[in-house]
Amino acid sequence: MAGPLYLALVTYLIMLLAVYWHRVRRFHVPVMITIIIFDLGMPFYLFLTRNWYKRLIVNNDIMSFGVWMHFGLLIALFVLYTIQVNAGWQLLKKTDANTLENSRREHHNLARGILLVRALVIISGALLSEPGTGA
Ligand code: HEM
Repeated sequence: MAGPLYLALVTYLIMLLAVYWHRVRRFHVPVMITIIIFDLGMPFYLFLTRNWYKRLIVNNDIMSFGVWMHFGLLIALFVLYTIQVNAGWQLLKKTDANTLENSRREHHNLARGILLVRALVIISGALLSEPGTGA
């Protein structure tokens, strides 16, 4: 798990930079899109490279609170991403000042939730990882 975990931590730091430089749209937007794709791809990568049957079924980890918490946080993150992409899209479109201000506020508030939930996804993933076992 160490490789994907370190990679996730690096992408988290890059995400912080992209939040800080949100005004630089040519940096902010592509970086956020890349990180969202990275997060969507991670479950597929882990599914293909880990012995999930042994871990979840044989070791009975499917009944563990940690696994379900991690899964729930991941679903919450993807829901937040969906709303955030929509709000970001509204900011890119030329609309009236009122709609723009609402989208900006929504995008801003969602950003806090995303940073928190994404941190919890990474932390819960780190707690579940078993170095050296391929699990
Ligand atoms: C594909 C997804 C996204 C798109 C298209 C997008 C687009 C934008 C745009 C156009 C702006 C306005 C920049 C300006 O001030 O000129 C913005 C601001 C911002 N974005 Fe995003 N963004 C995306 C994802 C994210 C994510 C995932 C986060 C949080 C982790 C985030 C956090 C922010 C913040 C904090 C601002 C500043 C809002 C404010 O003005 O108060 N964005 N984004």
